[in-house]
Amino acid sequence: MVEAERSKLPYAAPSRTMSAAARARRIARACGVFGTGVSLTVLAGWWFDVPAMRRLLPGHAPMVVLSALATLMLGMALLFAARRESARLSRRVGRCLAGAAAAIALGGGLQYAIPGSFRLDDWVQRLVFAPLAPGSGMALATAIGAVGAASGLLLQDARSRRLRLLGAVAALFAFVVAAVGGLGYAYGLGAFHQGGPFSRMALVTALTLGTLSLGVLLSRPNRPWVTSVLGGGDAGTLTRHLMPATVLAPLFLGLLQLHAVRAGLLEAETGTALLVIVLALWLAGLTTRLARSVERRAVADRQLRDALQGMNEALEQRVAERTRELAEAQDALVQAQKMEAIGQLTGGVAHDFNNLLTIIHSSVDFLRRPNLSEERRTRYMDAVSDTVERASKLTAQLLAFARRQSLRPEVFDARERLAGVASMLDSLTGARIRIVREMPESPCFVRADPTQFETALVNLVVNARDAMAGEGTLTIALSCGRTKPPIRGHAGSPNDFVVVAATDTGSGIAKERLTQIFEPFFTTKEVGKGTGLGLSQVIGFAKQSGGDVDVASVVGRGSTFTLYLPQAEAGAGEEKAVPEPDGQPLEQADRCILVVEDNIEIGAFCTQILHDLGYGTVLTQTAEAALAEIEAVPFRFDAVFSDVVMPGMGGIELAKRLRELHPELPVVLTSGYSHVLASDHAHGFEFVRKPYSAEQVGKVLRAAIARKPKVRMAPADAPV
Ligand SMILES: Nc1ncnc2c1ncn2[C@@H]1O[C@H](COP(=O)(O)OP(=O)(O)OP(=O)(O)O)[C@@H](O)[C@H]1O
Ligand SMILES: [Mg+2]
Repeated sequence: MVEAERSKLPYAAPSRTMSAAARARRIARACGVFGTGVSLTVLAGWWFDVPAMRRLLPGHAPMVVLSALATLMLGMALLFAARRESARLSRRVGRCLAGAAAAIALGGGLQYAIPGSFRLDDWVQRLVFAPLAPGSGMALATAIGAVGAASGLLLQDARSRRLRLLGAVAALFAFVVAAVGGLGYAYGLGAFHQGGPFSRMALVTALTLGTLSLGVLLSRPNRPWVTSVLGGGDAGTLTRHLMPATVLAPLFLGLLQLHAVRAGLLEAETGTALLVIVLALWLAGLTTRLARSVERRAVADRQLRDALQGMNEALEQRVAERTRELAEAQDALVQAQKMEAIGQLTGGVAHDFNNLLTIIHSSVDFLRRPNLSEERRTRYMDAVSDTVERASKLTAQLLAFARRQSLRPEVFDARERLAGVASMLDSLTGARIRIVREMPESPCFVRADPTQFETALVNLVVNARDAMAGEGTLTIALSCGRTKPPIRGHAGSPNDFVVVAATDTGSGIAKERLTQIFEPFFTTKEVGKGTGLGLSQVIGFAKQSGGDVDVASVVGRGSTFTLYLPQAEAGAGEEKAVPEPDGQPLEQADRCILVVEDNIEIGAFCTQILHDLGYGTVLTQTAEAALAEIEAVPFRFDAVFSDVVMPGMGGIELAKRLRELHPELPVVLTSGYSHVLASDHAHGFEFVRKPYSAEQVGKVLRAAIARKPKVRMAPADAPV
């Protein structure tokens, strides 16, 4: 479309793709060939005495031998100068020939400078043929023109820019002299030949010299004006388009006018006036045409711009579409990855739980058998208890990864904790692994759950041990007052952090696995050797505590796991452990517990436990029903034991209401999973994590009731 628009322009660029430089050189060479050819023809005409060859243009004066020699030298010099890659030698030869032409011309022009002096043209003429005819010889105009053209050639490669310019001006002057000399013949103006600088210049000489001067001007195509005039761009096209109209047309009109006056068709004055009027009209027409061209060009440019803008907008639209498609594809990918992760997680949980359930199932089967020896009964009971313990650990790790575990953050000295678990870590790693500890001078207080902190340490140390295949060095470095850098695209933090870095000399981790290792159930260990939950616990605990874990590793050299935990002031916000109730054992049979649990089996099981512990119980399935029970008989209950996640009000809301309505009534909450408790564990209420044992429930309830203010007004009703 753009090409089509351009081809409609009045002065469209020529389709030829030849560069301005190449075109200029070609014209210059053609001028050289013409000049050389004419000069040789004239010389041959003199030598072989063929008059027609001396004058070439019938009816006109011949070119004298000296002029022919000068133009021959110039023509050959031009051919050397206009070669595409003129070597040093050929340039030198060209300059010598131009010097010779200048010398010949100066010799011929000497007679005009010093009248009566030696006439070179006459002398040369005699050598060849015969003395010069009277009134002939090298014209002053020819001598000046030849010197000018030769100077142009001599100076065109000068180092100084000014000299090069002077050469160009000299060549231009030569062209004008030759052109005026030639025009004198065309216009039949005797004055141009009978006196003054142009006298007696033969027409053939004027044509040859003019052509040669033009060639000299074009022989250096790197000049800006040559590029403008001959270039393929708009300027060149416009110049070539207008040049004939602005130069040739006035010359032709002038010629017409002169002949018309001479033929008596017009008065001289009328002719001049007519010429002026016609020229003015001609120029006005040209100007209008130029203006129209410019206007058309502007319109074309505008259309071009509009087209470009349209293309731009279309492009932007396509980019936006592609970006949207890409985002959709990315979403789909993320979704697919999520599904894969969920699949992996579900598969892992199902696999592990199936193993544990198999143990429980078969143990219970054996326990049901009559006549079981006490020793085997104890063994199966222990197996069930251990398995439940492991299952509970598994869920705890999963919750840790999900950052939904109920943490009990405390402020403790990490240095002290590390020293406390040192011997345990030593026994974990074995004798062939050297543990280097780098501890700070002063204590490092951290706010986190100490049990989870130790678990994270154990996980890191066990991983390091496995990576070192039981042999190597493990460095545990503790430092405080450090900032947290950006980790895996998460922003850093300028706050103070306590940092534990565990560096091993083990196998290292491949770069593409660095993020995968934190996924739950991702393991490279043999079946039965790793569950793939260790690092999930570490990262879940760190993140939930307000910190993070970073990993750096070089395959074959080792890895460094860096655990960041928020630093705390010494003793700040330390949470006191629940004091064990001391003194007299409580009369539990008098105690009545309101159990709130929406799951019927768990509710029944819980009341069974409490009965076995000697408590009276009332079971409700919703928080609303529990409130109604309490309001029905105030002070009936000694404590409320409630699940957290239930339809309706929920355990936390119930506990908060009770804190307002009955501040003396202790509330113990229980849950296996609660984001509410995970985000703010305490809420000021006691909490027992599911799965719980009878012992844990009894301990917490005893402690809660022991702290209860003794304001009971009425005895509890019989248990339901
Ligand atoms: N220090 C380490 N050097 C090399 N690889 C490690 C290191 N720590 C972890 N890994 C890699 O990360 C994987 C996941 O570790 P993670 O602790 O989560 O699970 P695991 O050790 O395989 O199993 P688990 O800890 O549950 O027994 C490992 O299987 C191991 O490939
Ligand atoms: Mg591990």
